[in-house]
Amino acid sequence: MHILLGQTLSFTADPFRVPVGEALRHESRGAVAIEAGRIVAVGPADEIRAAHPQAPVTDHGRALISPGFIDAHVHYPQTAIIASWGKRLIDWLNSYTFPEEARFGDPAHAAGIAALYFDLTLASGTTTTVSYATIHPESVDAYFTEAQRRGLRALAGKTCMDENAPDNLSDTAQSAYDDSKRLLEKWHGADRLSYVITPRFAPTSSREQLAALGSLWGEHPDVLMQTHLSEQHEEIAWVHELFPEAQDYVDVYDRFGLLREGALMGHAIHLSPRERARLREAGASLIHCPTSNTFIGSGLFDMNGLMNEGQRIGLATDTGGGSSFSMLRTMAAAYEVAQLRGTPLHPAQLWWLATAGSAHALHLGDRIGTLAPGYEADLAVIDLASSPAITQRAARAETLWEEVFPTIMMGDDRAVAATYVAGRRV
Ligand code: GUN
Ligand code: ZN
Repeated sequence: MHILLGQTLSFTADPFRVPVGEALRHESRGAVAIEAGRIVAVGPADEIRAAHPQAPVTDHGRALISPGFIDAHVHYPQTAIIASWGKRLIDWLNSYTFPEEARFGDPAHAAGIAALYFDLTLASGTTTTVSYATIHPESVDAYFTEAQRRGLRALAGKTCMDENAPDNLSDTAQSAYDDSKRLLEKWHGADRLSYVITPRFAPTSSREQLAALGSLWGEHPDVLMQTHLSEQHEEIAWVHELFPEAQDYVDVYDRFGLLREGALMGHAIHLSPRERARLREAGASLIHCPTSNTFIGSGLFDMNGLMNEGQRIGLATDTGGGSSFSMLRTMAAAYEVAQLRGTPLHPAQLWWLATAGSAHALHLGDRIGTLAPGYEADLAVIDLASSPAITQRAARAETLWEEVFPTIMMGDDRAVAATYVAGRRV
């Protein structure tokens, strides 16, 4: 048993569905008791300490003890090409992404980037990531090997592409099925790891490949499936050309058994009313990637509208299309995107999206993303006075959220005082 002291912040309900004050659990002098990698108690510091007088204590002072951040859509192989400028989606993929991804058949390169990637995410307080690997099985092994070594709850899958991709980044319908199946059997459920079936997006998969991956998902209904949906207008027009028989982009996935609960749809910006209704009915998760959407020039996700119709939504960096590894920076971008749509988000809603909301989108809401007994002890400790600009603003705060919001808008990895993975400080 080990006790952490600080301001504790977590959610008991979804602040998009109930008033913020009722969704929240906050202790200004709080404690989290941890044993064997799990949270065993959360509450006022005095109570928790009195109940466990022998337990060692780490005092984080005024810092905020939060569930670790959950990044629901990333491309770890794009770590080294983050912030590559001047292109829209298709050109950006061809110019920067594919040449870098081609290097991941080399296990040493893949292992080096995987280690670097988890160094960067943990330094940002992110304790769970859901990654696309490359087409190479080696890239999946590198990611999971590194995550397992660090004790992380992590998710990923082999990216499958057999059309409209360079030859050295193309698999086939059969090899995509075989490799994905073998990797799924090897990694899914090993320690804290989960395999995710991963067709990159409709334009880079043949009908045969989409059908093969739909079958694989049917054979393993408990795993998640991730892909990209309706990110840019040019991409959507291309999908209409490639799949004229489909009603729309959502219908392409639907036709191949790739739309149901457990589907993680990255971006989901430009959707028709029919597509929205079908996504909602199917119970798919929509993953908002705001720094990517502004960086690549994709568009403005309709957070409030989609939430109001009952969609399941997570938040993500989409590195390296996204421009930051930090979920703080990502919350700020989500705020800005919502402002541009004229529908502001409350800071509590942003924090929920980066923790319990993303966990819910990943169907892991009963294990991570919340400070409560029984939950896995993945935590981010956030310094709310990490720079002079933030400190002077937070000093004027009269409420918790006035104190937290400057760190959301101006904070980065320097605001992360500590990160805990399964109760262990990393
Ligand atoms: N659509 C298909 N592949 C990608 C990718 O790697 N990044 C982004 N942002 N969109 C995609
Ligand atoms: Zn992506």
